Amino acid sequence: MAIARISQQEIQDAVEALRAGDLVAFPTETVYGLGANANNPEAVRKIFKLKRRPANHPVIVHLDDPKYLQRWVLDMPPEAQALAEAFWPGPLTLVMKRAPAVHDVITGGQDTVAVRVPSHPVAQQLLNAFGGGIAAPSANRFGHISPTRVEHVREEFGDELKMVLDGGECKVGLESTIVCCLGTTPRLLRPGAIALAQLREVVPALVSGADPSTPRTPGSTARHYSPETTVNLVPSRRLEQVMAEFTSNREKVAVLALRPPGTANRFMTWINAGIRPDVYARNLYAHLRTLDKAGAKIILVEEVPDDERWDAIRDRLRRAATAENVVTYDPDVAALRADLGEDGEP
Ligand code: TXA
Ligand code: MG
Repeated sequence: MAIARISQQEIQDAVEALRAGDLVAFPTETVYGLGANANNPEAVRKIFKLKRRPANHPVIVHLDDPKYLQRWVLDMPPEAQALAEAFWPGPLTLVMKRAPAVHDVITGGQDTVAVRVPSHPVAQQLLNAFGGGIAAPSANRFGHISPTRVEHVREEFGDELKMVLDGGECKVGLESTIVCCLGTTPRLLRPGAIALAQLREVVPALVSGADPSTPRTPGSTARHYSPETTVNLVPSRRLEQVMAEFTSNREKVAVLALRPPGTANRFMTWINAGIRPDVYARNLYAHLRTLDKAGAKIILVEEVPDDERWDAIRDRLRRAATAENVVTYDPDVAALRADLGEDGEP
């Protein structure tokens, strides 16, 4: 995979932009982030404005090294310490008690803060040269699909965003795994590249899903990560049949499948995303963007295997799909389902 080379000059320009209170989009191993100086509330507010994101949604603070954590985090429980040692730098975000100096615009007014140490070399270079925390959500308009390539960031913001660092394709392709480390039981709030089993190898007591005391994680609202075209999840055995219901009416259909099509059909755009979860995840958002532009009536997504390596993908697909197909997010229901030992879907 090509990682575009970034010049020292580009890093320096980005650092100056951040210091001046401007926004900089930058690559991470998960998705591109829309960054601002985390110590400058005015700069962080620009993120919300550009994304058209509601102000009560907290943002993740990115650091190049855990040694800067005390500026942001009040105390780090031993479970968080262990997870950080195992997975940083990497696609893991930890939610902990905020330090007093952290501004409300970062935390959405809650008493917690989310932090992450990304591994992408360009993110590392930028953070290191900047020498402070960078607040960054994914670099997309609110509710849209996250960007995994530099051209996706351009598509989202056009001329409204001056500085975008090109780091090539994001290797993971899905947003970081979020773990809430408050109290004694760490909770998985958003599945990502680091799977539940891997987390449990480090912290066996870790559980999946929110409970009523868990801070709000607005990225967990049901409809999120969505293309403009309606998305439907379809069981594998029904895929061709559902497709035919549209194409027999000469309606165009876009399909994201785990296999090639059974028959050719001039009303369909079919992407075979393959059966490797890491490759599927890396290309998922690029594929959804492609299918969204196909001028189709609907995007049909073949259901993915019911195995843990597909958890994060299944989670994002459900959210991309329309309201009829998703479990509506309700913290009480989520807690109840977690209690019942079901996939405690936050
Ligand atoms: O991989 C990622 O996490 C990317 C890259 C750029 O680092 N960032 C990302 O940010 O996905 P965003 O803002 O699109 O999603 C972060 C999620 C949101 O759902 C937000 O509500 C949640 O993290 N979050 C942030 N701070 C939180 C906090 N203090 N407590 C609970 N949830 C928090
Ligand atoms: Mg996002």
